Amino acid sequence: MTMLLKAGRVVDPSSGHDDTADVRIDGEAVVEVGADLAADGAEVVDCAGLWVMPGFVDLHTHLREPGFEDAEDIATGSAAAAAGGYTTVAAMANTLPVCDTAAVAELVERRGRDVGLVDVRPVGAITVGLAGERLAEMGELYDSRARVDFFSDDGVPVSDALIMRRALQYAARFDAVIANHSQDMDLTEDAQMNEGRMSSVLGLPGWPHEAEEVMIARDLLLAAGLGARLHVPHVSTAGSVALLRLAKERGVRVTAEVTPHHLHLDDSVVATYDPVFKVNPPVRTTADVTALRAALADGTIDAVATDHAPHPHEQKDQEWDYAPCGMLGLETAFPLVVTDLVATGELSLLDAVRLFTTGPAGVRDMGGHGGPITADAPANLTVVDPDATWIVDGRALHSRAHNTPFQDEELTSRPVHTLLRGRWTLQGGAVQW
Ligand code: DOR
Repeated sequence: MTMLLKAGRVVDPSSGHDDTADVRIDGEAVVEVGADLAADGAEVVDCAGLWVMPGFVDLHTHLREPGFEDAEDIATGSAAAAAGGYTTVAAMANTLPVCDTAAVAELVERRGRDVGLVDVRPVGAITVGLAGERLAEMGELYDSRARVDFFSDDGVPVSDALIMRRALQYAARFDAVIANHSQDMDLTEDAQMNEGRMSSVLGLPGWPHEAEEVMIARDLLLAAGLGARLHVPHVSTAGSVALLRLAKERGVRVTAEVTPHHLHLDDSVVATYDPVFKVNPPVRTTADVTALRAALADGTIDAVATDHAPHPHEQKDQEWDYAPCGMLGLETAFPLVVTDLVATGELSLLDAVRLFTTGPAGVRDMGGHGGPITADAPANLTVVDPDATWIVDGRALHSRAHNTPFQDEELTSRPVHTLLRGRWTLQGGAVQW
């Protein structure tokens, strides 16, 4: 089947292309990009006024399967991803069983393929059972059919510096990436929210920014010494940004991501005591938000990653202290960045798209996703309506859980079509199962 995406604004960070063009797709691949292409019997999809971009890449998704299907499973999470414009997501390892064996990684990857809405790339655990004590069989995970080249105990840190050093050293043998959840557990014992003026006002135990920064500093030193690849997930503080900037200047092989919620929310939201705003790391101060936004523009942060973390309402809707950390992200991430940063002129559209495509695709092998949009490339594409305005409603999202911190916010822009290797996964706003 051939298809012609007609007269969209084609935004492709890998070539720097940002102009009106037609995109012809034949079967699974793009075959031609150019102005005024003839239909020649192709199905014509009118994209006038729409943005045509590489399918988005999420480095940080909790799909919860196996083990926590009351929160999400690979089918519901894949649907949320397709609706959010993603064509591939990295599934975090904190499942039950933990993704610390080839069997679990292959199961997750195969289940993703069976659902067929996005390519699911498993993240391997760094340590067995996320216990921080013994290295997982990283080599076996890498050699498996799932080809795991990215490891994280996300949700919990690798606290022991020797274990972390060994993980970096071992992963470096096959140029894999280690992503450590940066949290000093001693500094965050009983912590409930960012430590600062708000935590004093609210009387909640504080989670100091240094708890993140000391661990990032340690990991940067370890990675630098070994020439190993480090990825820093969900960066949340101005101090972390400064450390990353320095490390990059010095040539450390480090990449970093930020979540939409850390770009958008500050700790004043905790005054609601609504646990939907409880997240790890916690939302910080407006000064931190400003520093994170600046780090996007200057390349210190490579990717926007969702940390999509569904939780069933019977667990999430408890008193603040008892609620688990985590927020939905897949369906609101790009619209939020457009609303907050692109529509306001703070970030160019090309830069925003880069943070969802070539940026994350440069962190690990994401199987040819993230562009370019060019002849012979797989037709993994997202089409966004920049003029769509919509009100976020957790119950209308595709995830099994509803814990969005953006409930009732009005957002500008929304994905209308997503194509995975030339097949609709989202068409006219409807997920194509
Ligand atoms: O808020 C979070 N939730 N942060 C994490 O690092 C883990 C995640 C989860 O798994 O719920």
